[in-house]
Amino acid sequence: MKSLIDILDLTTQELDELIATAQDIIANPAKYATSCHGKKLATLFFEPSTRTRMSFEAAMYELGGNVISVTGAGTSSAAKGESVADTAKTVSCYTDIIAIRHPKEGAAYVTAKNATVPVINAGDGGHCHPTQTLADLLTIYREKGRLNNMTIGVCGDLKFGRTVHSLINAMSRYDNIKFILISPEELQVPTYVTKDVLEQKGIPYVQTTDLEAVMPELDILYMTRVQRERFFNEEDYLRLKDSYILNMDKLKNAKPDLSILHPLPRVNEISVAVDDDPRACYFKQVLNGKYMRMALILKLLKEAGQL
Ligand code: CP
Repeated sequence: MKSLIDILDLTTQELDELIATAQDIIANPAKYATSCHGKKLATLFFEPSTRTRMSFEAAMYELGGNVISVTGAGTSSAAKGESVADTAKTVSCYTDIIAIRHPKEGAAYVTAKNATVPVINAGDGGHCHPTQTLADLLTIYREKGRLNNMTIGVCGDLKFGRTVHSLINAMSRYDNIKFILISPEELQVPTYVTKDVLEQKGIPYVQTTDLEAVMPELDILYMTRVQRERFFNEEDYLRLKDSYILNMDKLKNAKPDLSILHPLPRVNEISVAVDDDPRACYFKQVLNGKYMRMALILKLLKEAGQL
């Protein structure tokens, strides 16, 4: 049973095929309107979400399927102490595919080990968020027409930002990619990403605290939120939360064809004035997420013999 726990569960060819399917869905939505007729998606969200849960649900409805859901740990039997494994076995009795978000790293993996239907990791703690990466890849592809030959700046909370870890893993597979990792020293990318991914694959990268100094080099700027929910103390969060605020002044030396991405939600890190700049892609990224989740649901259900 194929599940998606980490973006590395997908080969480069599979990523390219998902992008092609998403583009076909965008061009021919009617062709897919009944593809999942009679099928159910369960969304199990034990952590807050707007985009991921709603885009999964919209995706399944637009494929002609149905959705059942748990929203918030307090509304399911997890609040009574039920294990993730038992939840997975139970929910498998009701649905054809599961998307789960959970605050604990590894919870999606445990779900996949115990479920009898495909499982999609919709974010597990600070670990990874592969379907956000699918949205990011489609956005980069649609904006640039390619996934190779570019300099990607990733800025903000690179330590706890699970979307960052998945994005670096995915983009490291394409040719001639350079990363510029912009963060406060306390929030640098973990060494299991710099050493085990970037250095092992020979991908050039620099770490810096200075966003403006590197701005002219960037083809992509991926902004991220400082993640209050992952900090051990409020003092550190308050000290670091406004480390980077992208505004029009900071963009004055940026390339005219820069693409600005952000997985959202945004707190303070991009000024709303930037939203009107044609280089701002983060709301297009939200919509692209729905198309990639449609493509992923189709792929996993087909591979499970359900379609
Ligand atoms: N990007 C993202 O995961 O957003 P939500 O937390 O709203 O799902």
